[in-house]
Amino acid sequence: QLPPLDQCLNLYDFEVVARQVLKPTAWAYYSSGADDEVTMRENSNAYGRVWFRPRILRDVSSVNFATSMLGQKTSMPIYITATALGRLGHPDGEKNLTVAAGKSGLIQMIPTLASCSFDEIVDAKVHDQQVQFFQLYVNSNRAITEKIVRHAENRGVKGLFVTVDAPQLGRREKDMRMKFDDTGSQVQNSNKDNVDRSQGAARAISSFIDPSLNWEDLQWLRSITKMPIVLKGVQTWEDAVLAAEAGLNGVVLSNHGGRQLDYAPSGIEILAEVVAALKQRNLWRSTFEVFIDGGVRRATDVLKAVALGAKGVGIGRPFLYAYSAYGAEGTLAAINILKAEMEMAMRLLGARTIAEITPDMVDTRALGFH
Ligand code: FNR
Repeated sequence: QLPPLDQCLNLYDFEVVARQVLKPTAWAYYSSGADDEVTMRENSNAYGRVWFRPRILRDVSSVNFATSMLGQKTSMPIYITATALGRLGHPDGEKNLTVAAGKSGLIQMIPTLASCSFDEIVDAKVHDQQVQFFQLYVNSNRAITEKIVRHAENRGVKGLFVTVDAPQLGRREKDMRMKFDDTGSQVQNSNKDNVDRSQGAARAISSFIDPSLNWEDLQWLRSITKMPIVLKGVQTWEDAVLAAEAGLNGVVLSNHGGRQLDYAPSGIEILAEVVAALKQRNLWRSTFEVFIDGGVRRATDVLKAVALGAKGVGIGRPFLYAYSAYGAEGTLAAINILKAEMEMAMRLLGARTIAEITPDMVDTRALGFH
């Protein structure tokens, strides 16, 4: 009853199929946002307020969208962001993403709360040059975090993304109505045995996250690893400036896919002001990269973010949905759809390379910032 994979023409199509195949508990965990899901909807809606200013007659017979993130090559300015509990959707869990990323030249961010073990996900790489980042939830027990970070670095991870928008996990009511019993999962949890399973997946897995985390802890993190450190979940220009001043290597403008504070702004809405604030303070430099995630579903979304200064954009749910229905082949197909969209959208925009996608190619007046 599953439609053939080639009938999925865009990233939204995978969501429709996944909804049919996922168990209700998995669908609730993957699809939910916080509270009234206003921020989650806004993540997509906000892209609708950015318009293009396409340029013509620029010989776009060949276009190339390869670029880099944190000094690592990628075939597109897109990465697979961290999403927890990958095996709720498919027995191979996050390894599906590893395989699809390796075959397509994308970078995968491995979540702390993956259902496959960290080593399984690293071992699933399809070639030696394949690059992985790691998303870190800092444990109240710093010794555990230190061990995880050192291990990640030893296993070749090229960037550490510290999640800073989740001192407590948000209220995702669809998920909370479900009882969580993912006994097959290997997620790190210091008090796994006395976990409350009656309030959904997110509550059950997150009790170890340290709400006391603050700027000083980042100096400690800096001292235990040479990996570039990026803050994931920055939501104002003030915090982006603090991150740059603290000598970190970047920020992800993100509201966690609308799963944390409802009414937090979408990344695309604050991107222009973040970049402007960094430039004003001479903090706009090649060793500090700005990423963005949330609601990215089309190459046109990617181009808008890149034009406004993003080095790369993260995509979460669509890749999960794609493998939940079709395994690694599904995620690979979703990535190939994005590649085809990128090629066409860059031609029509009049940009042959990522460097040629410039701020004057977007009209942000409807965002209220220009
Ligand atoms: C997430 N996200 C997330 N972020 C993080 O830092 N650690 C995590 O464990 C998770 N887990 C997670 C699970 C699921 C099911 C989703 C949908 C999301 C947030 C994720 O990295 C990213 O910010 C959003 O998913 C981006 O939005 P889209 O692309 O899903 O709209």
